Amino acid sequence: MPVLGIETSCDETAAAVVDGDGNILSDIVLSQLDDHRPYGGVVPEIAARAHVEHLDTIITRAMNDAGLGYTDLNGIAATAGPGLIGGVMVGLMTGKAIAAAQRKPFVAVNHLEGHALTARLTHQAAFPYLLLLISGGHCQLLEVAGVGAYRRIGTTIDDAVGEAFDKTAKLLGLGFPGGPAVEAAAAHGDPTAFALPRPLAGTETCDFSFSGLKTAVLHAVRDAAPLTDARRADMAASFQAAVADVLVDRTGRAMKQFAGCHPNVRSLVVAGGVAANQALRARLDLAAAAHDFTLLVPPPRLCTDNAVMIAWAGVERLRLGLTDNFAAPPRARWPLDAAAAATGAKA
Ligand code: KG4
Ligand code: ZN
Repeated sequence: MPVLGIETSCDETAAAVVDGDGNILSDIVLSQLDDHRPYGGVVPEIAARAHVEHLDTIITRAMNDAGLGYTDLNGIAATAGPGLIGGVMVGLMTGKAIAAAQRKPFVAVNHLEGHALTARLTHQAAFPYLLLLISGGHCQLLEVAGVGAYRRIGTTIDDAVGEAFDKTAKLLGLGFPGGPAVEAAAAHGDPTAFALPRPLAGTETCDFSFSGLKTAVLHAVRDAAPLTDARRADMAASFQAAVADVLVDRTGRAMKQFAGCHPNVRSLVVAGGVAANQALRARLDLAAAAHDFTLLVPPPRLCTDNAVMIAWAGVERLRLGLTDNFAAPPRARWPLDAAAAATGAKA
Protein backbone atom coordinates (compact mmCIF):
# COMPACT_ATOMS: atom_id res chain seq x y z
CA MET A 1 0.00 0.00 0.00
CA PRO A 2 2.25 2.85 -1.20
CA VAL A 3 2.23 6.37 0.21
CA LEU A 4 3.67 9.46 -1.47
CA GLY A 5 5.63 11.71 0.92
CA ILE A 6 6.42 15.38 0.32
CA GLU A 7 9.00 17.40 2.29
CA THR A 8 9.56 21.15 1.87
CA SER A 9 10.10 22.50 5.39
CA CYS A 10 13.65 23.81 4.91
CA ASP A 11 16.05 23.81 1.96
CA GLU A 12 15.44 20.35 0.52
CA THR A 13 12.67 19.81 -2.00
CA ALA A 14 11.92 16.11 -1.62
CA ALA A 15 9.40 13.47 -2.65
CA ALA A 16 9.42 9.72 -2.05
CA VAL A 17 7.19 6.68 -2.24
CA VAL A 18 7.27 4.04 0.52
CA ASP A 19 5.04 0.99 0.78
CA GLY A 20 3.38 -0.54 3.83
CA ASP A 21 6.22 -3.02 4.33
CA GLY A 22 8.77 -0.22 4.48
CA ASN A 23 10.14 -0.73 0.98
CA ILE A 24 11.50 2.54 -0.40
CA LEU A 25 10.12 2.63 -3.94
CA SER A 26 11.64 6.03 -4.72
CA ASP A 27 13.59 8.73 -2.89
CA ILE A 28 14.25 12.08 -4.58
CA VAL A 29 15.95 14.96 -2.76
CA LEU A 30 16.80 18.20 -4.51
CA SER A 31 19.11 20.28 -2.37
CA GLN A 32 18.99 24.06 -2.76
CA LEU A 33 22.50 24.49 -1.36
CA ASP A 34 23.80 26.42 -4.35
CA ASP A 35 20.90 28.90 -4.09
CA HIS A 36 21.66 29.68 -0.43
CA ARG A 37 25.46 29.39 -0.34
CA PRO A 38 26.15 33.04 -1.31
CA TYR A 39 24.23 34.12 1.82
CA GLY A 40 25.96 31.68 4.19
CA GLY A 41 22.65 30.21 5.37
CA VAL A 42 19.11 29.33 4.31
CA VAL A 43 17.11 32.35 3.09
CA PRO A 44 13.40 31.57 3.69
CA GLU A 45 12.06 33.52 0.70
CA ILE A 46 14.53 31.91 -1.69
CA ALA A 47 13.70 28.48 -0.25
CA ALA A 48 9.95 28.96 -0.73
CA ARG A 49 10.36 30.12 -4.32
CA ALA A 50 12.69 27.22 -5.13
CA HIS A 51 10.15 24.75 -3.74
CA VAL A 52 7.43 26.26 -5.97
CA GLU A 53 9.72 26.00 -8.97
CA HIS A 54 10.85 22.39 -8.47
CA LEU A 55 8.27 20.47 -6.47
CA ASP A 56 6.11 19.33 -9.44
CA THR A 57 9.11 17.85 -11.23
CA ILE A 58 10.43 16.18 -8.07
CA ILE A 59 7.05 14.54 -7.39
CA THR A 60 6.78 13.35 -11.01
CA ARG A 61 10.26 11.85 -10.75
CA ALA A 62 9.38 10.11 -7.48
CA MET A 63 6.23 8.61 -9.04
CA ASN A 64 8.12 7.54 -12.18
CA ASP A 65 10.96 5.97 -10.18
CA ALA A 66 8.37 4.03 -8.17
CA GLY A 67 6.71 2.98 -11.41
CA LEU A 68 3.32 4.06 -10.09
CA GLY A 69 0.43 6.29 -11.05
CA TYR A 70 -1.47 8.39 -8.51
CA THR A 71 -4.35 5.90 -8.56
CA ASP A 72 -1.96 3.25 -7.15
CA LEU A 73 -1.34 5.28 -4.00
CA ASN A 74 -2.90 4.50 -0.67
CA GLY A 75 -2.46 8.05 0.54
CA ILE A 76 -0.50 11.30 0.35
CA ALA A 77 1.59 12.61 3.26
CA ALA A 78 3.10 16.10 3.36
CA THR A 79 5.11 17.94 5.99
CA ALA A 80 2.83 20.48 7.71
CA GLY A 81 5.56 21.88 10.00
CA PRO A 82 7.57 22.81 11.91
CA GLY A 83 9.75 24.76 9.50
CA LEU A 84 10.02 27.79 7.27
CA ILE A 85 6.39 28.67 6.72
CA GLY A 86 6.61 29.59 3.02
CA GLY A 87 8.15 26.25 2.12
CA VAL A 88 5.80 24.30 4.38
CA MET A 89 2.81 25.92 2.63
CA VAL A 90 4.11 24.92 -0.81
CA GLY A 91 4.43 21.22 0.07
CA LEU A 92 1.30 21.07 2.18
CA MET A 93 -0.92 22.70 -0.45
CA THR A 94 0.54 20.48 -3.18
CA GLY A 95 -0.08 17.36 -1.10
CA LYS A 96 -3.66 18.41 -0.38
CA ALA A 97 -4.27 19.18 -4.05
CA ILE A 98 -3.08 15.73 -5.17
CA ALA A 99 -5.13 14.04 -2.45
CA ALA A 100 -8.24 16.06 -3.38
CA ALA A 101 -7.87 15.44 -7.11
CA GLN A 102 -7.24 11.71 -6.62
CA ARG A 103 -9.73 11.31 -3.74
CA LYS A 104 -7.03 9.74 -1.55
CA PRO A 105 -6.53 9.97 2.22
CA PHE A 106 -4.29 12.83 3.32
CA VAL A 107 -1.83 12.95 6.23
CA ALA A 108 -0.35 16.21 7.57
CA VAL A 109 2.99 15.08 8.99
CA ASN A 110 5.04 16.66 11.75
CA HIS A 111 8.59 16.83 10.32
CA LEU A 112 9.99 15.87 13.73
CA GLU A 113 7.78 12.79 13.81
CA GLY A 114 9.27 11.89 10.43
CA HIS A 115 12.75 11.93 12.02
CA ALA A 116 11.43 10.17 15.14
CA LEU A 117 9.88 7.20 13.30
CA THR A 118 12.59 6.61 10.66
CA ALA A 119 14.31 3.95 12.80
CA ARG A 120 11.11 1.90 12.63
CA LEU A 121 11.56 1.78 8.86
CA THR A 122 15.31 1.14 8.88
CA HIS A 123 15.68 -0.98 12.04
CA GLN A 124 12.12 -2.10 12.87
CA ALA A 125 12.52 -0.29 16.21
CA ALA A 126 9.73 -1.37 18.56
CA PHE A 127 7.93 1.07 20.88
CA PRO A 128 8.86 2.37 23.35
CA TYR A 129 12.35 3.73 22.72
CA LEU A 130 14.52 6.60 23.86
CA LEU A 131 15.11 9.16 21.10
CA LEU A 132 17.90 11.70 20.79
CA LEU A 133 16.71 14.10 18.09
CA ILE A 134 19.55 16.29 16.87
CA SER A 135 18.95 18.57 13.89
CA GLY A 136 19.37 22.10 12.64
CA GLY A 137 16.43 23.39 14.67
CA HIS A 138 16.14 20.92 17.55
CA CYS A 139 18.03 19.08 20.23
CA GLN A 140 15.79 16.93 22.38
CA LEU A 141 15.57 13.70 24.29
CA LEU A 142 12.16 12.05 24.05
CA GLU A 143 10.45 8.89 25.14
CA VAL A 144 8.65 7.56 22.07
CA ALA A 145 5.76 5.40 23.30
CA GLY A 146 3.89 5.17 20.00
CA VAL A 147 2.85 7.12 16.91
CA GLY A 148 1.92 10.57 18.20
CA ALA A 149 2.91 9.63 21.78
CA TYR A 150 6.01 11.60 22.75
CA ARG A 151 7.20 12.61 26.19
CA ARG A 152 10.01 15.12 26.30
CA ILE A 153 12.78 14.28 28.76
CA GLY A 154 15.14 17.10 27.87
CA THR A 155 15.61 19.92 25.36
CA THR A 156 18.00 22.72 24.54
CA ILE A 157 17.53 25.85 26.56
CA ASP A 158 19.05 27.97 23.78
CA ASP A 159 20.53 26.83 20.44
CA ALA A 160 20.09 23.57 18.56
CA VAL A 161 23.17 21.43 18.06
CA GLY A 162 23.04 21.65 14.24
CA GLU A 163 22.94 25.42 14.58
CA ALA A 164 26.15 25.25 16.66
CA PHE A 165 27.81 23.19 13.93
CA ASP A 166 26.70 25.70 11.29
CA LYS A 167 27.90 28.71 13.32
CA THR A 168 31.24 27.05 14.06
CA ALA A 169 31.72 26.32 10.36
CA LYS A 170 31.01 29.95 9.57
CA LEU A 171 33.50 31.18 12.20
CA LEU A 172 36.13 28.83 10.78
CA GLY A 173 35.38 29.88 7.21
CA LEU A 174 34.46 26.31 6.32
CA GLY A 175 31.40 27.33 4.36
CA PHE A 176 27.85 26.10 4.21
CA PRO A 177 26.36 23.67 5.15
CA GLY A 178 28.38 23.56 8.32
CA GLY A 179 27.87 20.11 9.80
CA PRO A 180 29.58 18.00 7.13
CA ALA A 181 32.35 20.64 6.72
CA VAL A 182 33.16 20.63 10.47
CA GLU A 183 33.13 16.83 10.52
CA ALA A 184 35.53 16.66 7.57
CA ALA A 185 37.91 19.25 9.09
CA ALA A 186 37.74 17.61 12.53
CA ALA A 187 38.96 14.32 11.09
CA HIS A 188 42.44 15.87 10.70
CA GLY A 189 42.49 17.80 13.97
CA ASP A 190 43.50 17.33 17.60
CA PRO A 191 40.36 17.28 19.80
CA THR A 192 42.39 18.36 22.85
CA ALA A 193 44.03 21.37 21.17
CA PHE A 194 41.53 23.95 22.46
CA ALA A 195 39.88 23.91 25.89
CA LEU A 196 36.17 24.43 25.26
CA PRO A 197 33.28 24.21 27.78
CA ARG A 198 30.86 21.27 28.12
CA PRO A 199 27.68 23.25 28.94
CA LEU A 200 25.29 21.61 31.45
CA ALA A 201 27.34 18.40 31.59
CA GLY A 202 26.87 16.70 34.94
CA THR A 203 23.74 18.68 35.84
CA GLU A 204 20.50 17.20 37.19
CA THR A 205 18.21 17.60 34.18
CA CYS A 206 18.57 16.11 30.69
CA ASP A 207 18.63 19.56 29.06
CA PHE A 208 21.21 20.93 26.64
CA SER A 209 22.80 24.31 26.03
CA PHE A 210 25.04 25.25 23.14
CA SER A 211 25.20 29.05 23.10
CA GLY A 212 28.10 29.17 25.58
CA LEU A 213 30.06 26.69 23.48
CA LYS A 214 29.40 28.78 20.40
CA THR A 215 30.68 31.91 22.15
CA ALA A 216 33.74 30.03 23.41
CA VAL A 217 34.53 29.00 19.82
CA LEU A 218 34.12 32.62 18.73
CA HIS A 219 36.65 33.82 21.33
CA ALA A 220 39.07 30.98 20.66
CA VAL A 221 38.97 31.68 16.92
CA ARG A 222 39.65 35.39 17.55
CA ASP A 223 42.53 34.62 19.93
CA ALA A 224 44.11 32.15 17.52
CA ALA A 225 43.75 34.31 14.39
CA PRO A 226 45.03 34.05 11.73
CA LEU A 227 44.19 30.34 11.62
CA THR A 228 46.25 27.92 9.61
CA ASP A 229 44.45 24.93 8.09
CA ALA A 230 45.95 22.73 10.81
CA ARG A 231 44.69 24.99 13.64
CA ARG A 232 41.31 25.21 11.94
CA ALA A 233 41.14 21.41 11.96
CA ASP A 234 42.16 21.43 15.65
CA MET A 235 39.36 23.88 16.43
CA ALA A 236 36.79 21.79 14.51
CA ALA A 237 37.94 18.66 16.32
CA SER A 238 37.87 20.40 19.73
CA PHE A 239 34.36 21.70 19.07
CA GLN A 240 33.11 18.31 17.89
CA ALA A 241 34.64 16.62 20.96
CA ALA A 242 32.84 19.10 23.23
CA VAL A 243 29.54 18.37 21.46
CA ALA A 244 30.15 14.63 21.73
CA ASP A 245 30.92 14.88 25.46
CA VAL A 246 27.73 16.87 26.07
CA LEU A 247 25.55 14.52 24.01
CA VAL A 248 27.03 11.48 25.75
CA ASP A 249 26.58 13.01 29.22
CA ARG A 250 22.98 14.16 28.68
CA THR A 251 21.91 11.02 26.84
CA GLY A 252 23.59 8.87 29.50
CA ARG A 253 21.46 10.53 32.15
CA ALA A 254 18.35 10.02 29.98
CA MET A 255 19.21 6.33 29.48
CA LYS A 256 19.36 5.87 33.26
CA GLN A 257 16.01 7.60 33.67
CA PHE A 258 14.43 5.66 30.78
CA ALA A 259 15.73 2.32 32.08
CA GLY A 260 14.17 3.14 35.45
CA CYS A 261 10.74 3.49 33.80
CA HIS A 262 11.18 0.63 31.30
CA PRO A 263 13.39 -2.04 32.89
CA ASN A 264 13.09 -4.39 29.90
CA VAL A 265 13.61 -1.90 27.08
CA ARG A 266 17.07 -0.92 25.90
CA SER A 267 16.79 0.94 22.58
CA LEU A 268 18.39 4.31 21.91
CA VAL A 269 17.45 5.86 18.56
CA VAL A 270 19.39 8.86 17.27
CA ALA A 271 17.82 10.87 14.45
CA GLY A 272 18.02 14.22 12.63
CA GLY A 273 20.67 15.75 10.40
CA VAL A 274 23.42 15.83 13.04
CA ALA A 275 23.03 12.05 13.46
CA ALA A 276 24.72 11.78 10.06
CA ASN A 277 28.00 12.63 11.85
CA GLN A 278 30.13 9.47 12.08
CA ALA A 279 32.28 10.66 14.98
CA LEU A 280 29.22 11.46 17.10
CA ARG A 281 27.64 8.13 16.16
CA ALA A 282 30.77 6.30 17.32
CA ARG A 283 30.74 8.10 20.70
CA LEU A 284 27.02 7.49 21.19
CA ASP A 285 27.50 3.83 20.28
CA LEU A 286 30.02 3.46 23.11
CA ALA A 287 27.75 5.34 25.50
CA ALA A 288 24.79 3.12 24.61
CA ALA A 289 26.88 -0.02 25.15
CA ALA A 290 28.04 1.30 28.54
CA HIS A 291 24.37 1.58 29.60
CA ASP A 292 23.48 -1.77 28.07
CA PHE A 293 21.44 -0.06 25.34
CA THR A 294 21.41 -0.85 21.63
CA LEU A 295 22.04 2.16 19.38
CA LEU A 296 19.82 2.44 16.32
CA VAL A 297 20.73 5.17 13.81
CA PRO A 298 19.33 5.44 10.29
CA PRO A 299 21.88 5.67 7.45
CA PRO A 300 23.14 9.27 6.93
CA ARG A 301 20.91 9.86 3.90
CA LEU A 302 17.84 9.19 6.03
CA CYS A 303 19.14 11.32 8.93
CA THR A 304 19.30 14.54 6.95
CA ASP A 305 16.03 15.88 5.55
CA ASN A 306 14.27 13.61 3.07
CA ALA A 307 10.75 12.62 2.04
CA VAL A 308 11.12 8.89 2.80
CA MET A 309 10.59 9.72 6.48
CA ILE A 310 7.46 11.72 5.64
CA ALA A 311 6.02 8.92 3.49
CA TRP A 312 6.84 6.42 6.27
CA ALA A 313 5.16 8.58 8.94
CA GLY A 314 2.20 8.62 6.53
CA VAL A 315 2.24 4.81 6.35
CA GLU A 316 2.33 4.57 10.15
CA ARG A 317 -0.53 7.04 10.60
CA LEU A 318 -2.70 5.55 7.83
CA ARG A 319 -2.33 2.12 9.45
CA LEU A 320 -3.88 3.58 12.59
CA GLY A 321 -6.57 5.44 10.65
CA LEU A 322 -5.02 8.78 11.54
CA THR A 323 -5.82 10.95 8.53
CA ASP A 324 -6.20 14.72 8.32
CA ASN A 325 -8.70 16.91 6.54
CA PHE A 326 -7.84 19.76 4.21
CA ALA A 327 -8.14 22.29 7.01
CA ALA A 328 -4.84 21.03 8.49
CA PRO A 329 -2.80 24.24 8.89
CA PRO A 330 0.85 24.87 8.05
CA ARG A 331 2.78 25.43 11.28
CA ALA A 332 6.05 27.26 11.82
CA ARG A 333 6.24 25.72 15.29
CA TRP A 334 4.86 22.32 16.19
CA PRO A 335 6.41 20.58 19.21
CA LEU A 336 6.19 16.79 19.49
CA ASP A 337 5.36 17.06 23.18
CA ALA A 338 2.94 19.97 23.29
CA ALA A 339 2.43 19.76 27.06
CA ALA A 340 6.16 20.07 27.79
CA ALA A 341 6.56 22.87 25.26
CA ALA A 342 3.74 24.78 26.99
CA THR A 343 5.89 24.98 30.12
CA GLY A 344 7.94 27.64 28.37
CA ALA A 345 11.16 25.84 27.45
CA LYS A 346 12.14 25.98 23.79
CA ALA A 347 10.32 23.31 21.74
O1 KG4 B 1 17.46 17.28 10.01
P1 KG4 B 1 18.13 18.29 9.16
O2 KG4 B 1 18.56 17.88 7.77
O3 KG4 B 1 17.24 19.57 9.01
C1 KG4 B 1 16.49 20.03 10.08
O4 KG4 B 1 15.38 19.48 10.32
O5 KG4 B 1 17.01 20.94 10.78
O6 KG4 B 1 19.39 18.82 9.96
C2 KG4 B 1 20.21 19.80 9.42
C3 KG4 B 1 21.37 20.06 10.35
C4 KG4 B 1 22.26 21.19 9.91
O7 KG4 B 1 22.51 22.03 11.02
C5 KG4 B 1 23.52 20.49 9.46
O8 KG4 B 1 24.68 21.27 9.60
C6 KG4 B 1 23.53 19.28 10.37
O9 KG4 B 1 22.19 18.88 10.44
N1 KG4 B 1 24.36 18.20 9.83
C7 KG4 B 1 25.46 17.73 10.45
C8 KG4 B 1 26.02 16.77 9.58
N2 KG4 B 1 25.21 16.67 8.47
C9 KG4 B 1 24.20 17.55 8.65
N3 KG4 B 1 26.02 18.07 11.63
C10 KG4 B 1 27.16 17.43 11.96
N4 KG4 B 1 27.77 16.51 11.16
C11 KG4 B 1 27.23 16.14 9.99
N5 KG4 B 1 27.83 15.24 9.21
ZN1 ZN C 1 14.96 17.70 9.73
